[in-house]
Amino acid sequence: MRILHIGDIVGTPGVNLVRRAVPWLRQHERLDVVVANAENAASGSGLTVKQFRRLREAGVDLITLGDHIYKKAEIISVLESDDRICKPANFPPESPGKNLACMTLPNGVMVAVLSVLGRTYMRPVDCPFHACDRVLAQLRPLTPIIVVDVHAEATADKYLLAHYLKGRVSAVLGTHTHVPTADEQIFPPGTAFQCDLGMTGPYDSILGRRIDRVLSTALNFAPTPFDVAEGDVRLAGAIVEIESTTGRATSIRRIMIPEADVPT
Ligand SMILES: [Fe+2]
Ligand SMILES: [Fe+2]
Repeated sequence: MRILHIGDIVGTPGVNLVRRAVPWLRQHERLDVVVANAENAASGSGLTVKQFRRLREAGVDLITLGDHIYKKAEIISVLESDDRICKPANFPPESPGKNLACMTLPNGVMVAVLSVLGRTYMRPVDCPFHACDRVLAQLRPLTPIIVVDVHAEATADKYLLAHYLKGRVSAVLGTHTHVPTADEQIFPPGTAFQCDLGMTGPYDSILGRRIDRVLSTALNFAPTPFDVAEGDVRLAGAIVEIESTTGRATSIRRIMIPEADVPT
């Protein structure tokens, strides 16, 4: 089976490109499942209910978030009720949302996704390793096809988690930095890894925000609205091929698709 995991969707430009590209990619790449990190969809921070519905309608099956998860409070009711979206599994048990997102394909195969936040330069969260252990124990009798979105700043944190989980999950894929890394690989016996999938949004920017605004604040410390940029919109992610019976990944391919390359 083939799973596409899309990196952080930023703002309306990112959402619009996903809506155009995903129906085409599903066919063109023969995808069975599409996962997306949508923590920056709402003007760069959070996800609205309308955007959640639009992404789902476009063919995004499962949605992860990150440190910006609750920036739009309206998403909390969706996080509490919908199986297709999850919170980071190492958030406190009291925080709204489910520890995993899952779906069952027409052939009866279940696919599950969970995310964890890293602990370097992030808010203090519970241990990501033990949080993964807890969710994996819950999933073990249900499915071997498990994708972990590691939402973290530090490259070492992401590598550590991948080595901790190799052989137990199908893929460990990084998000949050908005900069794609060229280190996609399979860790034996079959866990796909990429340190960061990159951003789906405007690349003529500072991580998705207007260059002039971010630069001005960097120079004079006076706050400016970090509006989402507009130019050079691209979709970034990775396609992972997985054996349905064992859950082992056999290949991973990084993708970066400029808006102009998507057929209209
Ligand atoms: Fe992000
Ligand atoms: Fe983030």
